Amino acid sequence: MSNLAAEVAKRRTFAIISHPDAGKTTITERLLLMGQAISVAGTVKSRKSDRHATSDWMEMEKQRGISITTSVMQFPYREHMINLLDTPGHEDFSEDTYRTLTAVDSALMMIDGGKGVEPRTIALMNVCRLRDTPIISFVNKLDRDIRDPIELLDEIEEVLDIQAAPITWPIGCYREFKGVYHLKNDCIHVYTPGHGHERTEEKVIQGLDSDEARKLLGSMYDDFVEELELVQGACHEFDHDAYLAGKLTPVFFGTALGNFGVNHVLDAFVDWSPAPLSRMTQEHEVLPTDENFSGFVFKIQANMDPRHRDRIAFMRVCSGKYEQGMKMRHVRIKKDIRIADALTFFSSDRERLEDAYAGDIIGLHNHGTIQIGDTFSAGEDMQFIGIPHFAPELFRRVRLKDPLKSKQLRQGLQQLAEEGATQVFFPQRSNDIILGAVGVLQFDVVASRLKEEYKVECSYEAINVWSARWVTSDNAKKLDEFKDKAYEHLSVDGGGHLTYLAPTRVNLSLMEERWPDIQFHATREHH
Ligand code: G4P
Repeated sequence: MSNLAAEVAKRRTFAIISHPDAGKTTITERLLLMGQAISVAGTVKSRKSDRHATSDWMEMEKQRGISITTSVMQFPYREHMINLLDTPGHEDFSEDTYRTLTAVDSALMMIDGGKGVEPRTIALMNVCRLRDTPIISFVNKLDRDIRDPIELLDEIEEVLDIQAAPITWPIGCYREFKGVYHLKNDCIHVYTPGHGHERTEEKVIQGLDSDEARKLLGSMYDDFVEELELVQGACHEFDHDAYLAGKLTPVFFGTALGNFGVNHVLDAFVDWSPAPLSRMTQEHEVLPTDENFSGFVFKIQANMDPRHRDRIAFMRVCSGKYEQGMKMRHVRIKKDIRIADALTFFSSDRERLEDAYAGDIIGLHNHGTIQIGDTFSAGEDMQFIGIPHFAPELFRRVRLKDPLKSKQLRQGLQQLAEEGATQVFFPQRSNDIILGAVGVLQFDVVASRLKEEYKVECSYEAINVWSARWVTSDNAKKLDEFKDKAYEHLSVDGGGHLTYLAPTRVNLSLMEERWPDIQFHATREHH
């Protein structure tokens, strides 16, 4: 195997999808602990206390600054290199979250065992489905009372429409939580409370039929054996191909807080998850082992220091090898640039990058020339596809405080929209400006940045829009007819694309029914 192929094969790039409070931050810390990237769990967590301080710009910058370092984490594990991409949870949920999922090869789905499948998990899962991303599931908080595990698996299958194959099965929960039984290996991984913050050797008992196992389970033994028979009869078996196709998810049980089961998940990533996959460009498929360097930008984040307008563009490397000081082409603006100081994210610290391969993420300093979806290439000109805009779910009308600043406002919004901070819509029937976002914090970010960077103050008003759909049609006549009839609800977005702003879900279904020649798209590519 060539060196390039060996480096690619070593890599695993994934993100965690979960509903707020399911334990994403906690498991992230435990994963870093496992990768020896931190020595004591509790370091990543500190940002949580900042999480609600959204009103004050400096606070927000500080918080987002910290999250730059935690938004990509690279650490070694078992001869492999893991790239863990953070998808912000909570209030800072935004389009970034969605787009980050376009830069990974697989995902970890965290489920709170007491709650089951929650709304945010469903939304994120739907994004994963766009690319059939393989998903490993972790049912968390076994040190508490959880719902019946069989019921949880049923819920995953029903609500998320994916087959669920338990790899381990929990023995009790809450105070009775003894560990998990590995269904294939016939062994018990024993849970010992009180070691949540450190790396410990896990105790393993071989054979459910052993004296040791009987002793551990005590009076639970017979019931457990009976339950297992039921599980083995009723549940799907793990099938690697179905997993890779995104049709089946292997399920593990444990407690992130107790640092139990996390290693099983990480082993599964190394053993089963795909190494960096090939990516499509408009022109052709790019293999991770192609010699020429290439990558695309999936996220742009304001820098820590608000005095500098500098921003970081996060690029997923798709092929070849990045070396410091190398030249690459910024394809959209047709310019060759030398990258002297890209950032890496090793061990949760920002460090100067040595080299990077497919699956790795590098951070480029962006002075306003880089947009979401941009392709960089050291070979031929090409354009990666599959880095979409997602139809916003929240809308606000922008009110300018000083009417003389409308030019600056438009300019600022245009740029923030290009960066992916928000989406902007200009209705046909008025001079309004409407902002669209996936997460409500995006509006705060935009208002703060307009004030700081463009000296424009604005406020927001509620507006009656349920969702946006990008509109296209092969039938020019029908499209004209539609434009005429739907005039009231039509806008153009920041990229000049025709958009239908539907006031209600019912209205949208009606329109889709009435206009079969018109396509209503929930996502749009970035160019
Ligand atoms: P998030 O990033 O997905 O939002 O979740 P986070 O890790 O912050 O966890 C949410 C809450 O759930 C935290 O408690 C965390 O300690 C707890 N938690 C995570 N994993 C487990 C687990 O395996 N068992 C139990 N019992 N709790 C778990 P909190 O009270 O909200 O925060 P904190 O005060 O503990 O920091």
